[in-house]
Amino acid sequence: MGLDEAKRLINGWVRREGSGRDRLLPLLHMVQDEIGYIDDTLVPAIAAALNLSRADVHGVLTFYHDYRRQPAGRHIVKLCRAESCQARGGAAVEAAAAERLGVAMGETRRDGQVTLEPVYCLGLCAIGPNALINGRPVARIDSAALDRIAAEVAA
Ligand code: FES
Repeated sequence: MGLDEAKRLINGWVRREGSGRDRLLPLLHMVQDEIGYIDDTLVPAIAAALNLSRADVHGVLTFYHDYRRQPAGRHIVKLCRAESCQARGGAAVEAAAAERLGVAMGETRRDGQVTLEPVYCLGLCAIGPNALINGRPVARIDSAALDRIAAEVAA
């Protein structure tokens, strides 16, 4: 989506949903849902549409890790880094996943096939270490699970 089209999307949403500081989070969610990420070049348009400063928008955009500022890979693998999963071997799983998938935590593989990201507790603490694979929870991540995940993201 080009910048002009993205601006039309933003301004149309604000006409329907209203403007002001309390609309910033929903607007950012909408942009991410529609475009896949929130490019930095959209910050001025978002700020203008909501009558906020660019610094306001940039601050919120960079504070919340769920907002994506670059395109994600075709598949998104999120590994839980919260306490219970860490106690169940999460760090080793993360290292093995990075190796198996060929991408470092927080990065998208060069071929654009997979993005590896942290997530902080999925509410499945008793059966960790856990992951979200394209939004689907997967528990008890072990070597066999990583093989299945690697096969899924190769498709
Ligand atoms: S700590 Fe990982 S699911 Fe709760």
